[in-house]
Amino acid sequence: MSLITLGIESSCDETGIALYQMGRGLLAHALHTQIPLHSEYGGVVPELASREHVHRVIPLVHQVLKQADITLKQIAAIAYTQGPGLGGALLVGASVANALAYALDIPTIGIHHLEGHLLSPLLSDPAPEFPFIALLVSGGHTQLMRVDGVGQYTLLGETLDDAAGEAFDKSAKLLGLGYPGGPALARLAAQGRSGTYKLPRPMLHSGDLDFSFSGLKTAVLTLVKQSPDDNQTRADIACAAQEAIVDILAHKALAALAQSGLSQLVVAGGVGANQMLRKRLNEVIGRRGGTVFYPDLEFCTDNGAMIAFAGALRLAQQQGGKDYRFDVRPRWDLQQID
Ligand code: KG4
Ligand code: ZN
Repeated sequence: MSLITLGIESSCDETGIALYQMGRGLLAHALHTQIPLHSEYGGVVPELASREHVHRVIPLVHQVLKQADITLKQIAAIAYTQGPGLGGALLVGASVANALAYALDIPTIGIHHLEGHLLSPLLSDPAPEFPFIALLVSGGHTQLMRVDGVGQYTLLGETLDDAAGEAFDKSAKLLGLGYPGGPALARLAAQGRSGTYKLPRPMLHSGDLDFSFSGLKTAVLTLVKQSPDDNQTRADIACAAQEAIVDILAHKALAALAQSGLSQLVVAGGVGANQMLRKRLNEVIGRRGGTVFYPDLEFCTDNGAMIAFAGALRLAQQQGGKDYRFDVRPRWDLQQID
């Protein structure tokens, strides 16, 4: 029987815990979202996030053990998010992981949060095969990577300023929507009329695979100030903002496939939950004979399953150990891992 890995994700505002067994797949997963806790502040409050993780990690570990009908002693290794993310929040997951692993005398492995996102579509069926292009679109990152295998990531392009998720969140805020803005903006956009307003698409024809979204936020601000304050107008603006973001992402993703000669695109990170983005990518990439892979919706945003899975893959490569000394890496470039 192959080994069972416990995964702990606590980099931001979700506590995600999961059990993954190579050969059998995901045995159980559980998530506690802190969205209601932070929403009254309009964004994540780091200290509150850390404290909430402290309360949630152990109960969620018990919950997944119960779900999978196994005991603590059957866990063979623990994977935790080591970075990037909020320092205090990461420390909660890292210290619980290492303390628990020390008590059980099993290895730990620190996982890069974006590697978790990047590999999460491999949990779905059908799964992509290496090599593929990954479009990573989370709250803090917008990157195009070439993925040749576990740990073999080449950065092809990234945002020079705001991330796509930030563009969603900031536009949503300007339209008076709550946190997190992405899903709220998408809901409002569904009532909007396409083409009523046209917003800029910065760097669309820059010829490289980099992105820029900060100009879009300024354009949304100007439009909001100039327009009447009624629901239909706000929905039309939301629609225009979503169209601009989706256009830019689809254009660059297509260019990355063309330049690399690859045909599989993997979309990972919270913005990958956006239905309009999915529809557009399926259309433009399908038309060119390519295939787009997404994680299941529940694994698009932060979760423990992707950390347990990435950990299991790395442990299979003989990585991780019983050192139990740990640090967290709030800022950590995916290119620096091996
Ligand atoms: O990957 P993620 O859950 O957390 C980070 O690691 O950052 O991504 C969160 C981001 C937020 O900016 C959120 O607004 C965005 O993903 N998001 C969406 C949708 N669901 C989440 N953006 C657009 N449409 C959605 N349906
Ligand atoms: Zn994330």
